[in-house]
Amino acid sequence: MCNDQDRPCVVTLSAAKGLVRWAHRCFPFALIAYASKHGSTQEIAERIAEKLRQLGKEAEARQVDAVADPGSYEALVIGSAVYYGSWLKEATEWVHRNQAILAQRPVWLFSVGPLGTDVKDAEQQPKEMPEFQQAIRPRDERIFFGALDHNKLSFPERMVVKAVRGPEGDFRDWQAIEAWAESIARDLG
Ligand SMILES: Cc1cc2nc3c(=O)[nH]c(=O)nc-3n(C[C@H](O)[C@H](O)[C@H](O)COP(=O)(O)O)c2cc1C
Repeated sequence: MCNDQDRPCVVTLSAAKGLVRWAHRCFPFALIAYASKHGSTQEIAERIAEKLRQLGKEAEARQVDAVADPGSYEALVIGSAVYYGSWLKEATEWVHRNQAILAQRPVWLFSVGPLGTDVKDAEQQPKEMPEFQQAIRPRDERIFFGALDHNKLSFPERMVVKAVRGPEGDFRDWQAIEAWAESIARDLG
């Protein structure tokens, strides 16, 4: 059973070959839903979840398309990698599908993209942000520096990166990411 009786739980019963099976799942307090193509955003989402857990908040990170029931979480942190100025399609579609729920919950948004350390935030605002701000009214949003490993890129991606002379490396600022997770934990009370 759930330790915290306030947490939403789902119990499913199924019967096969004369056996009745019982499955029980408790939803943690906070969901970190992410979309990531090459893994760097996934690692940021997992670090945020880990930090929240260290601070005593129940939290789990899940890829957006693996989230069964977003309405079962009390708070949601949603993040996507940025490609060609936009969030990944699966993240944008997920937000659109769940907009009514998200508008009623405390929500934080993060984007992962800029490479290098001399990038101005305003230039990198993903194009969905004004719409999301209007529709969801997130409590806060952040843009985090990303990572780029040439070995993980497809041939067309490599060509694009070469054309724009995108720098290779891991520019993620873990201190800034953890500090943001701490601010979320404080806000959750
Ligand atoms: C083809 C390509 C296009 C990109 N376009 C952008 C962009 O428009 N804006 C941005 O900030 N970062 C851009 N990036 C950088 C990625 O967002 C960054 O590498 C990020 O960490 C990738 O996240 P992921 O590993 O979770 O997929 C691009 C990277 C590639 C390979």
